[in-house]
Amino acid sequence: MNENYTYKVSAAGRVNLIGEHVDYCGGKVLPAALSLRSTVLVRPNGTDKINLAWTNLPDKISLDLSDLEAYKSVKYADYPAGSALMWQRAGKKLVGCDMLLGCTVPFGSGLSSSAAIEVSVIAALASVAGESVDPVEIALLAQSAEREYIGVNCGIMDQYASACGKAGHAILLDCKTLAREYVPIDLGECTLVIINCKKPHNLVESKYNERRAETETALRLLQQKRSISWLADLTPEEFEKDCGVLEGKVLDRARHVVEECARVHRAVEAMRAGDLMELGRLLNASHASLRDLYEVTGRELDALAAAAQRHPACYGSRMTGAGFGGCTVSLVKKSGAESFKAQVTEEYFRETGYRAEVYDAAIDDGIRIEKL
Ligand code: GLA
Repeated sequence: MNENYTYKVSAAGRVNLIGEHVDYCGGKVLPAALSLRSTVLVRPNGTDKINLAWTNLPDKISLDLSDLEAYKSVKYADYPAGSALMWQRAGKKLVGCDMLLGCTVPFGSGLSSSAAIEVSVIAALASVAGESVDPVEIALLAQSAEREYIGVNCGIMDQYASACGKAGHAILLDCKTLAREYVPIDLGECTLVIINCKKPHNLVESKYNERRAETETALRLLQQKRSISWLADLTPEEFEKDCGVLEGKVLDRARHVVEECARVHRAVEAMRAGDLMELGRLLNASHASLRDLYEVTGRELDALAAAAQRHPACYGSRMTGAGFGGCTVSLVKKSGAESFKAQVTEEYFRETGYRAEVYDAAIDDGIRIEKL
């Protein structure tokens, strides 16, 4: 399979432990890179084209390096083309190459398959052109591809985790400054269980962009009261003093952001202190806020999180990622994990008719490059 390819490059999917819908508000987030990955085999081909093929799709597409704008609505080619265009626009050396792509991050799962594809394609282009690979720079270019080419006005969390993750660690990322700290995921008697609710995603992009716009409206209104640059600059106490300028949905959205930022701090403290009960409570509180204030969960994710939270081996459970479908992440006692998986998926099926899928994923590194 690796025949004649010169590099094998991969980037990770991610799970976010807590800090949801706060990255674009200047908050801190706590994602971790996964062993579910996008992998690219690449070799130079001496032409002015990128020839794309997939390990699990019959399609083959040739991207013209002088016309990378042209693939915005071409299924499967859009993410690689957008990534290559951002690399090119950044003034980097872009060489014609053959790429074989394979992705084990399930699409539409909320585990950032798109970020994994973007980051792995850019890292592959860098490798094959002999350019240096700076994971943070690659994450930022991948984010531009998502925003400018795909049209999702996303934050930096997914691409950053995909590029800069570290096995066995979560990344405490300050999305305002991009300062990061690696926090060991040492959960003692517990493990993380990721379950996909399998509800087909729809309208995620437009709802995501709408939430983001609501937080921007909230920020503008709050700036009449206090000089802040980001919603995340407010403590919950300051927010309660000033929030009279907000109303309705905009008030709810902003309250979620401010309180979720406070939960991230408490979650990191709880992880460092080995206080799993407290960590579990914070996961549950995060889900409730995403359901009631931010309104990004939906019936299926709510049913899945509730079934998880009811199980005796579970300390806490929440949706992870953008929402509107996708996955939950649960903190579960290792000794009860098998019963948890069986019972939760069964109860969820009875309630919704969807067969949830459990992923066995480890916490892995971000970009990985192998010279073949
Ligand atoms: C998506 C976006 C991220 C982040 C999450 C919600 O995954 O790509 O930037 O906003 O949603 O936390």
